[in-house]
Amino acid sequence: MTRAAARTAMVTGGGSGIGAATVAALAADDCAVAVVDIDAAAAERVAKETGGDARAYTADVANRAEVDRTLERITADFGGLDILVNNAGIGTVSTLEAMPIEDWTRVIEVNLGGPFHCLQAAIPALKAGGGGAVVNVASIAGKRISYHGGANYTAAKSGLLGLTRHAAFELALYGIRVNAVCPGPVLTPMVEAATSEAERQGTAQLVPLGRWIRPEDVADMIVFLSGPASAMCTGASFDVDGGFMVSNGTPYRDYMARRNADFGGG
Ligand SMILES: NC(=O)c1ccc[n+]([C@@H]2O[C@H](COP(=O)([O-])OP(=O)(O)OC[C@H]3O[C@@H](n4cnc5c(N)ncnc54)[C@H](O)[C@@H]3O)[C@@H](O)[C@H]2O)c1
Repeated sequence: MTRAAARTAMVTGGGSGIGAATVAALAADDCAVAVVDIDAAAAERVAKETGGDARAYTADVANRAEVDRTLERITADFGGLDILVNNAGIGTVSTLEAMPIEDWTRVIEVNLGGPFHCLQAAIPALKAGGGGAVVNVASIAGKRISYHGGANYTAAKSGLLGLTRHAAFELALYGIRVNAVCPGPVLTPMVEAATSEAERQGTAQLVPLGRWIRPEDVADMIVFLSGPASAMCTGASFDVDGGFMVSNGTPYRDYMARRNADFGGG
């Protein structure tokens, strides 16, 4: 099989939000893209909208047999694999005290088990191509805690950062780079539908750079970490959070106005 596009990428959770924006951005960066999602209709829709060399695949990333079968089909269809984006993720909301055990298990299996399965299953194809890039979509919740989700989400995303570092060390031997991206609050269509304008403005005020992160902002970082411009980056995590991690949890502009009034500046 000859490979039309320069590189082939697999994006899990490609049917929505950050994943869908990443499919579009990688396709614009001359990649053939396998759009993998548990939601078959969503994957089909994104593949169709993207056009070109994008194709849809249905798989639950927590199910190893489905992941193995999907990887086999992708490498057969495209003739290889160069980029893996582990983006599929879910969350549940409850306190630690009230968390049903099934919620703990499912979030860990999808958000941490999924990237492990996809990465381990992709190693032979990446090695065969002489190297490659893996980008794990973690979260700033993995570096502090999740304020919207539960302890399961925080634990899974922290674990994903550990998996990123360890995999980067072992796979450097084969020229496979492994990095993570940690988005802050991302305004996906789902978040937009579930929040009021006032709530959205309140969150935007907490972000030093003054607005919500867009799926495309995260996709741009993923393209960077997938390509030659990041050739010497591996085992690292990159925040795409508008400065949320360095904020102090109060409306940023009001805080800076007071600070400048008291101490000079502005
Ligand atoms: N939205 C945010 O504010 C935010 C912030 C930080 C990190 N993240 C992370 O970014 C990633 C994408 O988030 P999003 O907001 O775009 O979510 P989303 O819900 O819009 O999209 C997630 C996609 O993953 C798919 N999916 C879910 N479980 C799956 C499974 N088991 N197997 C395969 N596909 C599955 C869904 O069908 C959906 O298409 C997630 O890992 C999430 O934890 C999101």
